[in-house]
Formats: sequence, structure tokens, C-alpha cells
Amino acid sequence: MSNIAVFASGGGTNAENIILYFREKKTAGVGLIVCSNPGAGVLKRAAALGVHAVTLSDAELVNGTLARVLEERNIGFIALAGFMKMVPPEIVAAFSGRIVNIHPALLPKFGGKGMFGMNVHRAVKASGDRETGITVHYVNEKYDEGRIIFQAKVTVEAGDTAEHIAARVKSLELEHYPVVIELLVKSIRH
Ligand code: GRF
Repeated sequence: MSNIAVFASGGGTNAENIILYFREKKTAGVGLIVCSNPGAGVLKRAAALGVHAVTLSDAELVNGTLARVLEERNIGFIALAGFMKMVPPEIVAAFSGRIVNIHPALLPKFGGKGMFGMNVHRAVKASGDRETGITVHYVNEKYDEGRIIFQAKVTVEAGDTAEHIAARVKSLELEHYPVVIELLVKSIRH
């Protein structure tokens, strides 16, 4: 069974959803949450579900602590879900093809620096685009630029606020991200 680490810095709805999805599966399970923010909601969710979580400082991400925790927990796959720090290049290299992120828009549009949370949905609204969605992509050393693995779309209606768009995109994330992770994990194992 593959051991997945979810990296998250915020509320953790995706992290929780991935944990619950894999509870029903024999292919993989979430064995670790890596967080960069001691006040993050994801830590409460992980504790409630009995999943081990660590909160790492900026220094601990790069001084070997992260690498050690991943090794100790026997992690074979990393899924980022709202992780607000850069993953250090050594980890990206060590997990090449086994580290993915989800972005709440259709990359390459609305990606890059500053494009997180509601900023993304406000930018979509301001652009007048009639559709948006989610992108699952491999992580490389640049923000939001790794190879795209999967996208799903939703329509943006004329009267939508950024909050409406965000809610629709969030349901797409919850529907698809665990399934995409599972397919990737299976394809690595065989
Ligand atoms: C998600 O919208 C994800 O696409 C983005 O960060 C958000 C995390 O939300 N990268 P949550 O913490 O899973 O609720």
C-alpha cells in the first residue's frame, strides 16, 4: 500500500476529503499531513481523523527535517492542497513524477505568484471568462508550471460572484482530486 502525504496550510477541506476517500481503499492511504501554519484548520481535521500531522517552519522545510519526516513515515507520493510554501528543490527532485498540486483554475490561466485563494476567482470574474475549473499538475521548481495531468471545467454565469465561482470550483476539487491521485498512485505501482 502506498503512503501519501498531503501538504496543506489552510482549512484543509481537500486534505480531509483525500483522507476519507483513501480510508475505503486498499491501494493507498494518507499517512502524513505536512503543514506550514500552526493555526491552520487542516491540523484540527487531521487530529479528528487520527492522521499524523507535522507543522514545519521555513527552516525545517529546507534543513533536512522535511526529508527525514517523509522518510520516517515511508511516504511514496505527495499531494499539495493549498500548501503556501515552495517545496524545496531536493524534495521535488526526489519525488519527481510522484508530487502533484491542485490549482483552482484552468492553468496556464490565472496561475503564478499571488494567484491563490479568492484572488484566483476574483481574477476569473474580472476577466469575463465564461468557464473556469481545476488543474492537477506535477510540481516542479516553478509556481504552477509543472506538466498538466488533469483539468475539469465549470461554467461561469453572468451573475456569479467570486464566491459563487469559488464554491463551484471547490466541489470539482472534492469530486476529482482523490480520484486523480489514486490513478497516479496505481500507475506508479504497476
Ligand atoms: C484549494 O482551492 C486548492 O485548489 C488551492 O488551495 C485551496 C485549499 O483549500 N491550491 P482547502 O485548504 O483544501 O480547503
